[in-house]
Amino acid sequence: MARIFDVAVIGAGAAGMMCALVAGKRGRRMLLLDHAHAPGEKIRISGGGRCNFTNIHAGPKNFLSANPHFAKSALARFAPTDFIAMVDRHGIAWHEKTLGQLFCDDSAKDIIRMLLDEMRAAGVELQLGVEISAVEKGEGGFRLQTTVGEIRAASVVIATGGKSIPKMGATGFAYRVAADFDLKVTETRPGLVPLTLDPALLAELAPLAGVSVDAEIRHGKTAFREALLFTHRGLSGPAILQISSYWREGDEITLSLEPDVDFAALLKTAKRENGRQAVQTVLARHLPKRLAQYVVERFAVDRPLADLSDKALEALAAFLHGWAIKPAGSEGYRTAEVTLGGIDTAELDSKTMMAKRVPGLYFVGECVDVTGWLGGYNFQWAWASGHAAGESV
Ligand code: FDA
Repeated sequence: MARIFDVAVIGAGAAGMMCALVAGKRGRRMLLLDHAHAPGEKIRISGGGRCNFTNIHAGPKNFLSANPHFAKSALARFAPTDFIAMVDRHGIAWHEKTLGQLFCDDSAKDIIRMLLDEMRAAGVELQLGVEISAVEKGEGGFRLQTTVGEIRAASVVIATGGKSIPKMGATGFAYRVAADFDLKVTETRPGLVPLTLDPALLAELAPLAGVSVDAEIRHGKTAFREALLFTHRGLSGPAILQISSYWREGDEITLSLEPDVDFAALLKTAKRENGRQAVQTVLARHLPKRLAQYVVERFAVDRPLADLSDKALEALAAFLHGWAIKPAGSEGYRTAEVTLGGIDTAELDSKTMMAKRVPGLYFVGECVDVTGWLGGYNFQWAWASGHAAGESV
């Protein structure tokens, strides 16, 4: 015998749980399914275990999508302040770390607990460890074929996330359902991901593994200023993760190290004041020691400043603020925090997240072609899109 609900939500992550609790509060009979054995696994590991649950500056400009206007409606109707109000109601302590990024003081598990409490209060039924083999539309609604039998629902919400971190159960489920219903999916690729280098450059930069420096990383017109980290696989750190979402295979990125330091003026003044100083000594006042050493060796300027022309010092400074690198690739979905691309927003109603051509079928969260910057934006999209669908289903 099939079990019957008003709405079946597939995927008990951030977006699915928000959607279920909002619709449950509206009195809808809700079933939330997940193939995992615990809900909100990505919430649990997010933000280094403290969940960067939103960003107070979140707005449409912080998202990538083929249609930059699509996210506006949902983001406007469920703002960071709305999520903060829920967090406060549950007595969860939080703090702003940097750049508007809000984290739990204690643990990301507090956020999962909050969502579960809200769902319980809203009468949502949560069923874990369920595999869904088919989503079919028939007379009067949808039929789900699952390992716990057939489920019928007037509406179905797909909240199964993207492809990132397959080890944690990420699947291409949402894209498959979209294909089954003949809905377009834009090209998907890993985002917020470390970039790799070709073997020659990697070997050259090997001594820098572990070095972190304030940097502005540029790709075309887009630039991010945050920490850059050299690793034994290539480049990482927030600035690199941010730019990785814009970077394409074959493109160059430009690194400006310690952008506030006028290295040309610094080196020329130091030369005038005390020409016997080594270049490395002066650079190391503003750059990590190993980085200063690398630069000096690269330019073969392991000498006192007095031995170098102003032109040579200017060339060195120009390198530090315009180091062009062509990454070989990215670390891929194995470590990517998000999946760029996804369900084509042209297929969805931006107010409700419902597929325009398949009434009753909704897509929310990361599986949609809306991807946020690093810094709490992706959860804000998950909350906002889940909320939009929850108000409509
Ligand atoms: P999400 O992936 O959270 O949930 C999807 C759910 O669907 C999962 O529970 C999964 O088990 C289930 N599912 C998948 N396939 C299924 C199938 N076939 N059948 C049934 N169920 C299925 N963002 C941010 O804003 N701040 C942060 O601090 C971080 N930190 C962070 C760290 C790491 C390591 C990663 C990988 C990612 C982040 N993110 C982040 C990104 C953030 O986690 C992500 O954008 C959201 O979790 C997306 O929410 P969704 O609900 O859309 O998918």
